[in-house]
Amino acid sequence: MCGIVGYIGTEVATPLLLDSLKKLEYRGYDSAGIAVLAHEGLVVRKAKGRLTKLEQLLASEAIDGTVGIGHTRWATHGEPSDINSHPHTDVSGNIAIVHNGIIENHAKLRDWLEKHGVTFRSQTDSEVIAHLIDFHYNGDLLQAVRETMARIEGSYALGVLSEDAPDRIIAARKDSPLVIGYGKTGNYIASDVPALLAHTREVTYIDDYELAVLFADHVEFYTEDGDPVQKEICHIEWDVEAAEKGGYEHFMLKEMHEQPKALTDTIRPRIIRDESSGLRNVDMHEVKDFERWKAEDSRIFIVACGTAWHAGIVGKYIFEQFARIPVEVDIASEFRYRNPLCGKNDIFIIISQSGETADTLAAMRLAKRSGAEIVAITNVVGSTLSREADSVLYTWAGPEIAVASTKAFTTQLSCLYLIALKLGNIRGVISHQQLDEHLKEIERIPAAAAKIFDMEDELQRFAARHFNKTKVFFMGRLFDYAISMESALKLKEISYTHSEAFAAGELKHGPIALVDTSTLVVAFCTQRALFEKMDSNMKEVKARGATVLAITFDDVDTFDGTADETLKLPVVLDQFSPMLSIIPCQLYAYYCSILRGNDPDKPRNLAKSVTVE
Ligand code: AGP
Repeated sequence: MCGIVGYIGTEVATPLLLDSLKKLEYRGYDSAGIAVLAHEGLVVRKAKGRLTKLEQLLASEAIDGTVGIGHTRWATHGEPSDINSHPHTDVSGNIAIVHNGIIENHAKLRDWLEKHGVTFRSQTDSEVIAHLIDFHYNGDLLQAVRETMARIEGSYALGVLSEDAPDRIIAARKDSPLVIGYGKTGNYIASDVPALLAHTREVTYIDDYELAVLFADHVEFYTEDGDPVQKEICHIEWDVEAAEKGGYEHFMLKEMHEQPKALTDTIRPRIIRDESSGLRNVDMHEVKDFERWKAEDSRIFIVACGTAWHAGIVGKYIFEQFARIPVEVDIASEFRYRNPLCGKNDIFIIISQSGETADTLAAMRLAKRSGAEIVAITNVVGSTLSREADSVLYTWAGPEIAVASTKAFTTQLSCLYLIALKLGNIRGVISHQQLDEHLKEIERIPAAAAKIFDMEDELQRFAARHFNKTKVFFMGRLFDYAISMESALKLKEISYTHSEAFAAGELKHGPIALVDTSTLVVAFCTQRALFEKMDSNMKEVKARGATVLAITFDDVDTFDGTADETLKLPVVLDQFSPMLSIIPCQLYAYYCSILRGNDPDKPRNLAKSVTVE
């Protein structure tokens, strides 16, 4: 995730900005930069790579200004490069901005600005902000930022400097975090508290649509309408390590809680409205030759490893339900050695959070050599996979630091749903009206996901009762079977519990012999047409002594008399349940891991990205 910082006071800004940016490195980044109002005017220095690269760039000069902003970039639009790094400036180089977030209507704004004579330098969405502020600037920088806010859609935490207003920094936010710090020698802005703790523990969190005007000796706050507003000052008790996790005990817990926002950031920019009908549609411009997918002889392969492979399993059900197209799902390390039958009519969806997994890259290259089209779903802009694929859909989940994948998984699923729904529509399987209704349901998912965290205490108590279980089975049918697989992996990899997933109908073909009084069985029941089957499967395992937790919807009481415990999810369309039903099991695995004395962020024997075979 990008990080922004700023300082205005009596000290030379550059070292303070660099020091604050270093405190944001944990957020993950691929480039960095600063802008300082020096005696000779606005000076911008920025570079692709680590902060040390920027420091080398600055080592040969002493920029004397005491007002500056800085940025660490986690690329979303435009690959990592010097020119795509922040800060961005307007054409005259008079205004500089740093931005954390995604400007969803950047393409439309860029077109409009270019028609008004603006020449863009970068491929980023953020650059439009600098030009818009310049366009609206008539001597009042705060007013110009407010008018810009009114035109941009999406998420932002902004820092703005101007040569014409050297006594102030303007900051603004919507949906991206921004905090103001009050130091002894001046005032600060930052995306997150760790960047401030060396200078102050007195901070103000500004809210969505609010602006802050920082002077060297005081700070003013305004609403988007320009009305002054009083904000409280909070005292931060956290130590640095706790602050990097946003106050959460582990990155994994923080990243699980980030899923509603990650889903929003991944879904919202891709759902558009047809100008004529007003119906929802999917913007699939990121896939180069999507029309080609309509061909009758098209086949889809989904290839990945681990959690990403489980997303592919869900993807198979999704594509076959909504687009009625055959899908083959492969584990990358199997695909690459089985001399697969594939060729130029085939479409490969390669899923990888890191975009660097060795087996996945090897499988992708094999498919590419066969002439197939490669579409990547990845979380890392500029990753090897993103550079070698023909098309890329990014999961805008922000850096996933915990080894166990959570927000990357649910956002991978959301990309698969959007592709499949669009494909189903262009293949005539679902009408425009049906597409609109399904997309409306998809838009509800982030809020539904957020509601699941209301059950976190209940899950923590459930984990306290069962964390010592030596056999944990997850079972389900169709989408629920795929989520059972991901749930078993989560529990395995961070609590070191032997857990296994079964297609519920498969139990009687052998696995039920394993069931006894020490067994916990988690039964996923979100496919309403199969409730009776699931009820029978639960009775089968209960008869052999198992403890059963049923995970179903709020409006379902079918299993209340059968399961020992039930967990009820917000009601969504059965087929969309995977984006929700995995969350309770992520939380269950997390709390079991802690109760067993493990570090859920760094489980034994595992790496975040398996870049070797
Ligand atoms: C999932 O929690 C694990 N970290 C692991 O299975 C992971 O999904 C797998 O290594 C694939 O990684 P990738 O998505 O970065 O390719």
